[in-house]
Amino acid sequence: MNDLYEIIASRRDTRHFTTDKVPNEVLEKAIEAGHQAPSVGLTDATRYYIIESDTIKKKIKELFLAYHEKAANTTDDEAQKESYLKLKLEAIEEAPIGMVIGYDRSVLDSFTIGTVGSNEAIKFSAVCATQNIWLALTEQGYSMGWVSILNYYDFKTILNIPEHIEPLGYFCIGKPATDYGNQPMLQQLDWKEKKAVANVIKLEEMQEVTKTTFSVEKEKANRNEALAQKLQHKIDHKTKPEGALGLLEKLALQIGLVFKTETPEIKNPHIVVFAADHGIANHGVSAYPQEVTRQMITNFLEGGAAINVFCKQNDIALEIVDAGVNYDFPTNTNLINKKVAKGTQSFLQTAAMSYTEMELCLKNGAAIVNEMHQKGSNCIGFGEMGIGNTSTASVLLSVLTPFTIEECIGRGTGVTNEKLENKLKILSQAIQNYKGTENLDDLLAYFGGFEILQMAGGMLQAYQNNMLILIDGFISSVAFLIAYKKNPAIKTNAIFCHCSEEKAHKTLLDYLEVEPILHLRMRLGEGSGCAVAFPIIQSAIGFLNEMASFESAGVSSK
Ligand SMILES: Cc1cc2nc3c(=O)[nH]c(=O)nc-3n(C[C@H](O)[C@H](O)[C@H](O)COP(=O)(O)O)c2cc1C
Repeated sequence: MNDLYEIIASRRDTRHFTTDKVPNEVLEKAIEAGHQAPSVGLTDATRYYIIESDTIKKKIKELFLAYHEKAANTTDDEAQKESYLKLKLEAIEEAPIGMVIGYDRSVLDSFTIGTVGSNEAIKFSAVCATQNIWLALTEQGYSMGWVSILNYYDFKTILNIPEHIEPLGYFCIGKPATDYGNQPMLQQLDWKEKKAVANVIKLEEMQEVTKTTFSVEKEKANRNEALAQKLQHKIDHKTKPEGALGLLEKLALQIGLVFKTETPEIKNPHIVVFAADHGIANHGVSAYPQEVTRQMITNFLEGGAAINVFCKQNDIALEIVDAGVNYDFPTNTNLINKKVAKGTQSFLQTAAMSYTEMELCLKNGAAIVNEMHQKGSNCIGFGEMGIGNTSTASVLLSVLTPFTIEECIGRGTGVTNEKLENKLKILSQAIQNYKGTENLDDLLAYFGGFEILQMAGGMLQAYQNNMLILIDGFISSVAFLIAYKKNPAIKTNAIFCHCSEEKAHKTLLDYLEVEPILHLRMRLGEGSGCAVAFPIIQSAIGFLNEMASFESAGVSSK
């Protein structure tokens, strides 16, 4: 076969192979074709691993089967499930050669041309190489099958693939034993029709892009002294020694002042978990790979995470926001879509986001809170999820306060000593590389995270709506720090629910001069601290509204 278009047309995703061996020259020629493919900024970040061992293939097949089963269970349609399970979607044990094609994202550690728009360009380069290999194998009378139905975390672990290498999938290579009738196998089996023609749209109109602005007034806390005195009097005259309910008394006074009443009530409480990905996660600063962010979102949506349990327990409505996860979610999920981009850029060498994106984050957060307010909510807890976001939060804390980066970093999801050292090195370097001004918005655009800024925007709006603002752990508190820098009056509405195990959280709480309700050694995020502290907040309101006073109970006071 010589004609390029003939080769392109006859290339097939192959799942039926003969037992013929693949000669070395064939494989080498194909890999050379892969190597000829374009790569962004000539990064040459594509990596190839060859697998011939039956034991390894067997193990990978088991991984496939586990996910295949999982995929089948995502449909409730029994007929669809049955026909899906009948499809042959791999040839892992049959194909004489297995190959893992991946890309080395550590190339992002140094300046790389072409990755500022999207660091996914490195992945796309590996896909170009894969297609060249597929075509070169076809031209030589061989073929390939792409297996992506795998848990990539387990896949990498069993193959001992370094943390900074991201596989595109597992590829089965061999001589095809197929008669797919010159069409995709899925089409031949009537699973789906390939569209007859490509989907091409001619763009002729342009849209005027208006710059978004988000303005916040720096207000002074304006305490209603008359109401404060009434509330304090009410608290002091309950049937208890003065101050005996400790922090609950302080909370009762605060909540009364926020809701401007002596008989406050929490209505329609919500916890909102803002999720996003972080470019800095490409530098090995977390114990987990980036894809865990999207996996956890699925877990939230399916009701299986800690925050689901605690919200259900305390009758709190839970909402999940895609603030900028590096993944395309289906459009019909129960997810609030406020995706600004698929993850920030790594701020090691360049700004995490543009000024417009930064402003959009603040606006998005405000819009979400407004919607909940309109539904009658007067209390919002702010939680987050995003692999790499302790690094973003630590850097923000360091650049927005007098603390050094050493004082602001911690183990996050639980990094080892070696990774902690690397985290410190990378984050110190990022701060050193920054050449911008000390202006708050400049710092936020350079070092920010989409979920952190959306939380800050939401908190500022919650203050404007006279809502109670529940702050979770370290990252949520850094979002609060940003909101506080924009409007210091916001502190009157904020309740700090839990002091996290992340070392710098206490430093930040002390800096803000606030007292958290709980110290449970949790370090989970997700708004878990807000949900767990919620009954205590209700107790503060409960005693204020329902406990007898010395007068009403006829008990003698001091
Ligand atoms: C990124 C990617 C991942 C894929 N993953 C799988 C897979 O896990 N299992 C499978 O049977 N086919 C997989 N395929 C194959 C496609 O289903 C196949 O290419 C498509 O049906 C068209 O068939 P054709 O390649 O023969 O034209 C994958 C293809 C691509 C491009």
